[in-house]
Amino acid sequence: MVTENELHELAREAVASIAGAEDADAAEEIRLRYLGRKGGLLTDVTRGLKDLPPDQKRVIGPVANRLKGLIENAAAAYKRSDAGAAREAVESQIERRGGKALLFGSIEIPEGVIQFQDAAAATGSQIDLTIPGRVPTLGHKHPIVQTMEDITEVLTRLGYTVAEGPEIELDHYNFEALNIPKDHPARDMQDTFYVSDDVLLRTHTSPVQVRVMENQPPPIKVIAPGKVFRCDADITHSPMFHQIEGLYVDRNVSLADLKGTLETFVREIFGPEFRIRLRPSFFPFTEPSAEVDISADHFAGGEWIEVLGAGMVDPAVFEAVGYDPEEWSGFAWGIGVERVTMLRYGISDIRLFFENDLRMLRQF
Ligand code: FA5
Ligand code: MG
Repeated sequence: MVTENELHELAREAVASIAGAEDADAAEEIRLRYLGRKGGLLTDVTRGLKDLPPDQKRVIGPVANRLKGLIENAAAAYKRSDAGAAREAVESQIERRGGKALLFGSIEIPEGVIQFQDAAAATGSQIDLTIPGRVPTLGHKHPIVQTMEDITEVLTRLGYTVAEGPEIELDHYNFEALNIPKDHPARDMQDTFYVSDDVLLRTHTSPVQVRVMENQPPPIKVIAPGKVFRCDADITHSPMFHQIEGLYVDRNVSLADLKGTLETFVREIFGPEFRIRLRPSFFPFTEPSAEVDISADHFAGGEWIEVLGAGMVDPAVFEAVGYDPEEWSGFAWGIGVERVTMLRYGISDIRLFFENDLRMLRQF
């Protein structure tokens, strides 16, 4: 008749020896030592179970049975030359809790008792093919960044260079120098986050036009991608979004040049079958101004969809930066990157871009 302590000792020995089995033959020998019909150490314990008082039986029975299962599984795995599965048969029964290793959740296994045979040696091979491979997780670009890079790539091929400006901007650059004085009704077109009377979060990338022209003489050919901010939120408007500004200044630049540039750009980004339409509009810093729509037979049911604002640079803007409006002419545009990305991929809610839900982002 076995006591609880004796059974725990038996379990420790059994687990240590099966874990350290050199090969399938050694494992089979261990199995027979514990589970052999005649004189098996564990066989004797299970045979004696029926003679134990009920409270003892409840303690000894489950441990004996689990130990039997463990030895059988491990020995069978060695026989299949599957040292990884043998190791797993032992390890899966050992819990780490409070710095201790507990077999079956209760039998303490002192450190050093279990020494696994090198898995490769146990299968007689140089390489342990049973260890699961490590799959590296690869990140990728956010769809907004992807679109910004695609647009930038097309325009740099057309000879544009990239300029940048601050996201926290002076009222002067965001409005005044763009022909939008204080109290001008056009300020209501864009709901502005103010930091102070003179400082704000830029509401568009157009202030970069002014900063570039202030700092270099014409001709100019730049784009300015970046974040902009407006107090505006619904399924197609976000309080933070991205624009890409374009500015071209030279002698004798015409509206036809603007249209040609936008057409090239739209076809590169959306596809050669796309058409564009310039619809008269108003911006204080361009004259004439247009909103630009795109369409294709297979797209949005053939409807015209607005993607950007554009126009010929207003002489007042040239004057603000010290360019002679008699000598120089130019065009500018500002495109909404989220809008373009939504159209490209058929996304109907702008908020999906900013929720960082991997189920969405992994689709790109
Ligand atoms: C402007 O911001 C002008 N600065 C564009 C411009 C530049 C005109 C240069 C002329 C010359 P508008 O407010 O229409 O224009 O915005 C341009 C684009 O930004 C819109 O067509 C739209 O695609 C996008 N947009 C505007 N508000 C939001 C918003 N809250 N969320 C996401 N996209 C927006
Ligand atoms: Mg607009």
